[in-house]
Amino acid sequence: MNEESETDMAEILSDEIRELINGGFSFVENKILECRNCALHETVTNKVISKGSTAPKVVFIGEAPGKNEDETGIPFCGRAGKLLDKFIAYMELKEDEWAVINTLKCRPPANRTPTKKEIEICRPFLTAQLTLMKPKIIILLGNTAEKAYGESLEWGEAKQREDGTYIVKIFHPAALIYQRSREAEQYAFLDKYKHLWKN
Ligand code: URA
Repeated sequence: MNEESETDMAEILSDEIRELINGGFSFVENKILECRNCALHETVTNKVISKGSTAPKVVFIGEAPGKNEDETGIPFCGRAGKLLDKFIAYMELKEDEWAVINTLKCRPPANRTPTKKEIEICRPFLTAQLTLMKPKIIILLGNTAEKAYGESLEWGEAKQREDGTYIVKIFHPAALIYQRSREAEQYAFLDKYKHLWKN
């Protein structure tokens, strides 16, 4: 791609994002439901949009729907979701203080890792959701969320953005199912940043 077409692409994308944001949550939801921008729509049962508050203090960003989520249309409703619920309880977040969204809204076949292209294609939805939700803290659950967000962080690192909000990167709960020994590290990350969502 040459420099000019890259600029054109960025402008088209920001127009698209602006339209999504101006349309509000139900417009974004309809656009997700209608989306045929990549091949994942061909194999999806239910698109998975969000769970929790529309004006949360904390937003968790996961990777992509798995089998249970594809069947129900609800994010993090399977085994990894149970662990995420444990983290939310540990963080003592109230019902209206959190939301969960995913990098991709469609399940990749056999739960494979999302491709760079799929992440890019789905990113306008993620950006619009985050802009509309206006969280104080964005928690990236693992590497795919980090890639989609476009900022590099170490495990357990937090960064303050120019607008005063924070991004934090912690382990994806599914990764902890297979590496139970890392759960203590995860709780240490949550302890370290408790002050961010407690005030
Ligand atoms: N893993 C994710 O990243 N998201 C879900 O919704 C479920 C499992």
